[in-house]
Amino acid sequence: QELQINLEQIEKGGYDHFMLKEIYEQPSAISDTYRGRMLVADGIIKMAGIDDNLAKLLNAKRILIVACGTSWHAGLVAEYIFEDLVRIPVEVEYASEFRYRNPVIHQDDVVIAISQSGETADTMAAIKLAKERGAFVFGVCNVVGSSISRETHAGAYTHAGPEIGVASTKAFTTQITILSLIALKLAERKGTISNSDFHYYLQELERVPEKVKKALESNDHIKLIADTYKDAKNFLYLGRGYNFPVALEGALKLKEISYIHAEGYPAAEMKHGPIALIDEQMPVVVIATKKGHYEKVVSNIQEIKSRKGKIIGIVTEGDVTVKELADHVIEIPETIEFLTPLLTTIPLQLLSYHIAVMLDKNVDQPRNLAKSVTVE
Ligand code: G6P
Repeated sequence: QELQINLEQIEKGGYDHFMLKEIYEQPSAISDTYRGRMLVADGIIKMAGIDDNLAKLLNAKRILIVACGTSWHAGLVAEYIFEDLVRIPVEVEYASEFRYRNPVIHQDDVVIAISQSGETADTMAAIKLAKERGAFVFGVCNVVGSSISRETHAGAYTHAGPEIGVASTKAFTTQITILSLIALKLAERKGTISNSDFHYYLQELERVPEKVKKALESNDHIKLIADTYKDAKNFLYLGRGYNFPVALEGALKLKEISYIHAEGYPAAEMKHGPIALIDEQMPVVVIATKKGHYEKVVSNIQEIKSRKGKIIGIVTEGDVTVKELADHVIEIPETIEFLTPLLTTIPLQLLSYHIAVMLDKNVDQPRNLAKSVTVE
């Protein structure tokens, strides 16, 4: 028993929980994922699974993304990235719905299945269905040799390393990293982005790990915010564009490990329902980075404020407007818009983590949840 406890402590590498260790591993997990694939000085992205199937991918009339849980959120971020950069229409599906819906699948559709474990039963079933109907299926998995990585026609691994905490953290950011690489490669080949933008985007992606490190420096500040709101019964998370899926993911993290009810919403949809919930008891986490619909999100913040909601703003370094309106702000470094999810996610992970620890919950193994769901 004692030996086991000691072993676990060693595996946690000095952190109290695997989740915290994995949150802090993200700078290296992200660079491990692009290392060897993205040759910034040469302006090249090399990925065997993409290079070998380039024609199929470039000629895809549509991309269908199937996944569950946090991987589904990474799929939503990818939808914004692919449509923006590659100009191929994308649909993101819950694998569990897709598999039973008699979906329309064409031979020139490309299906991307995203799964950290590579073992999720619903995602597996969705892949089998897509294959039966003639689609090309590309897998994005973290676990090497997993069932999904073997069932797909081709794929690319995220190099996040083992993720032990049930609540996914580094798998999510590395999934976004790899999906960004794929989008960039296809966009460059398709000519949907200029050569100079392509080079600039690679350079910006290369800078992300340093910026994630910077974002992690807000940890103590986030801990104080966690302490202020740990007894709230509900949380609302708002974001727009690329950061709408991040709002969903932030809410999921909080639900999973602290058991506090939380909802993620596209900021502009607030007026169609969630605004009715806002009062002085309601903390609202608003992703309000400088790039992407900033002014519109600021006006959402004003609406929350006038209803006495408590505002926790995730903002770009140096922001002044939101700082004046919000009860708290957490700064993240500036980057190009489609890479912001890699940074805005970090404070949301830390916020959930600290709240769960303060509430004395089992952070690494939350009740009723499993790391990989191999049954329906
Ligand atoms: C479970 C895990 C989640 C994960 C989801 C999908 O619910 O607890 O963290 O996002 O399954 O798992 P996958 O391995 O397919 O990414």
